Amino acid sequence: MSLKDRTVIVTGAGSGIGRGIAELLAADGARVVIAEIHEHNGAAVAEEIRRQGGVAEFIPTDVASEASVNAMVSQAVARFGSLYGLVNNAGIAGSQCEAEAMPTEEWDRVHAVNLRGAFFCARAAIPHMKRFGKGSIVNIASVHAQFSFAGWAHYDSSKGGLVSLTRTLALENGPHQIRVNTISPGYIDTPLWDAWLAQQPDAAEIEAGTRSWHPLRRRGTPADIAKAARFLLSDDSEWITGINLVVDGGLSIRYFGR
Ligand SMILES: NC(=O)c1ccc[n+]([C@@H]2O[C@H](COP(=O)([O-])OP(=O)(O)OC[C@H]3O[C@@H](n4cnc5c(N)ncnc54)[C@H](O)[C@@H]3O)[C@@H](O)[C@H]2O)c1
Repeated sequence: MSLKDRTVIVTGAGSGIGRGIAELLAADGARVVIAEIHEHNGAAVAEEIRRQGGVAEFIPTDVASEASVNAMVSQAVARFGSLYGLVNNAGIAGSQCEAEAMPTEEWDRVHAVNLRGAFFCARAAIPHMKRFGKGSIVNIASVHAQFSFAGWAHYDSSKGGLVSLTRTLALENGPHQIRVNTISPGYIDTPLWDAWLAQQPDAAEIEAGTRSWHPLRRRGTPADIAKAARFLLSDDSEWITGINLVVDGGLSIRYFGR
């Protein structure tokens, strides 16, 4: 399942799931581009990968900015000569607020990063993947694409949109051997999970309950998602495109009961 010497961009790789993905891909021999808005974290992850003997480059990026994304992709190709993979991982939760009271700016802020950002990155990357002869794009959505919490219309709809975007991009680019797939993680221990939890009135109860919500009796780790991303990026999944791979410890299969 080797990605040796293939260039892969991972957005939001300065923290959490993105960091886990970047580290695993680099350990597998990929040349990893850390496209991250938080400069200190992005630089630190690239530095740590290089210290471990991997190949990584930090390129400061705001995925919500078309100009920033286009510049990042050009810089990545100039640095490594080609582009094979893209992981659209950068995402924000936004503030909890029912739709009736949600400010337009808050809706736009979440969609600009989670959905429009993924579109910008894919659009800029695809011509380079065509030139390489094949490619793989992995979009990190969420189980919130399938089920919802009150107060998260912006987040849930951005993730549902990402699952749809995946299918359209897969159709358009299949003939060029560019595969596009979604991973929908369940609850993963990261700073984003902590921020989401902090907004819940019953945070302590949720924190205690989340283990039993999962048939596998634990929340996920960035490594759980990284292993799925590595599979969807590698040639081991070469006849898989357009799917939504739910990686959630079984969280979403329960309708009711134990
Ligand atoms: N943690 C979970 O439980 C969970 C569950 C399902 C889906 N997800 C999704 O996984 C992805 C990663 O989440 P995480 O939990 O690792 O969060 P995180 O907050 O730990 O990491 C997100 C990273 O994205 C970066 N980022 C934010 N805005 C950006 C922008 N405009 N441009 C570039 N980078 C930007 C942040 O600086 C941060 O480094 C997100 O898309 C999130 O929606 C997370």
